[in-house]
Amino acid sequence: MSDETLAQQHHHYHPLRISRVVEETADARSFVVEIPEDLREVFRYEAGQFLTFKVPYDGGELLRCYSLASSPDCEHEHKVTVKRIEDGRASNWLNDNVREGDTVQVLPPAGRFTLRPGDGPVMLFAGGSGITPVIAIVKTLLVAGSRPVRLVYANRDADSVIFASELAGLAAKHPERLSIVHSLDDRDGFLTAERVKQHVAAHADADFYLCGPGVFMEIVEDGIEAAGIPRERVFKEVFVSLEDDQPTEEDLVRAAEADAGAAGCETLVVTVDGATHELVYAEGKTVLQTAREAGVQPPFSCEDGYCSCCMAKLVEGEVKMRKNDCLTQRDLDDGWVLTCQSVPQTRTVKIDWDAS
Ligand SMILES: Cc1cc2nc3c(=O)[nH]c(=O)nc-3n(C[C@H](O)[C@H](O)[C@H](O)COP(=O)(O)OP(=O)(O)OC[C@H]3O[C@@H](n4cnc5c(N)ncnc54)[C@H](O)[C@@H]3O)c2cc1C
Ligand code: FES
Repeated sequence: MSDETLAQQHHHYHPLRISRVVEETADARSFVVEIPEDLREVFRYEAGQFLTFKVPYDGGELLRCYSLASSPDCEHEHKVTVKRIEDGRASNWLNDNVREGDTVQVLPPAGRFTLRPGDGPVMLFAGGSGITPVIAIVKTLLVAGSRPVRLVYANRDADSVIFASELAGLAAKHPERLSIVHSLDDRDGFLTAERVKQHVAAHADADFYLCGPGVFMEIVEDGIEAAGIPRERVFKEVFVSLEDDQPTEEDLVRAAEADAGAAGCETLVVTVDGATHELVYAEGKTVLQTAREAGVQPPFSCEDGYCSCCMAKLVEGEVKMRKNDCLTQRDLDDGWVLTCQSVPQTRTVKIDWDAS
């Protein structure tokens, strides 16, 4: 498959068959997605990445990201695990309705929450369903190299622990390399920043990977910060929905600055699916909005700066992002931008979704 065709396939939802459904806990199910031979390349992924699903809901559609809990380095299947959220629309729909043999609409793998190179220890924190990309990264770490791995996994109670036996099996197989601490609310009390700091203190030379819902992430980040760990060694994926996410003061200032610079832009040139379009830019819009309103169909999912589905290369000109909750400094230095958050700042801006 040519690079161009590969990039085009990456931007589309594909109808894929569910080959297996696994009851993990009372409120979480895994879905194994069958990848046909001709899409193998398009659905190649790194441990820690996610798939985006189009979920039919109330006559419309919801787009939701679900991380792959499988590791491409030691497993052949693509498995996601969905935990029910109270009153959650997509998570309950998927758990209630999707059965073996059903077809679901899936966008190819995306995401920046992947293992960074290194040979030092790795410490991972997972909260509830946040274990999905974390277990994938743990499995990848254990098949190669010799990095010590420590996992702190927080749950309500023992019955809510997803992958309990798989994790116990990994720890038994790699006693020298993998240690797991389960933090159970009903047994140990809620995980606090102070307890996170204590866990971190003994492993201050590690790289840190964190994933879970918003509240969990705040606690873990506070603990890691209190332990004095530099931000460059902390990698995170937040499992939030738009409704949770109140903009911070910093977000508001950044958004205002981005919007203020938009007045000078006239032309937006975008390349997607092998075609280049010259678009008239209207003030106040993001790059993604401008493209979509002109009928161009670039990839996107959360439209809130945290999933990275919409990322593209800035080829010419300047943009400012209203917010960025997933691209690293290295990504930014390499010219990547989140188009759902990017507001043009120069007369002409060129964006390429097909770049890799
Ligand atoms: C990159 C990424 C990867 C993800 N991977 C996974 C995964 O592997 N497994 C998984 O189960 N989920 C995962 N999520 C979360 C998932 O995408 C949905 O946000 C989640 O399933 C809730 O969607 P919903 O439609 O059911 O809830 P909504 O109908 O959107 O929300 C209903 C209510 O629940 C609250 N809510 C939404 N999400 C959460 C949450 N995560 N925790 C607590 N309350 C919440 C909302 O504020 C709202 O009040 C991931 C999210 C991201 C961004
Ligand atoms: S669509 Fe999720 S970061 Fe842009």
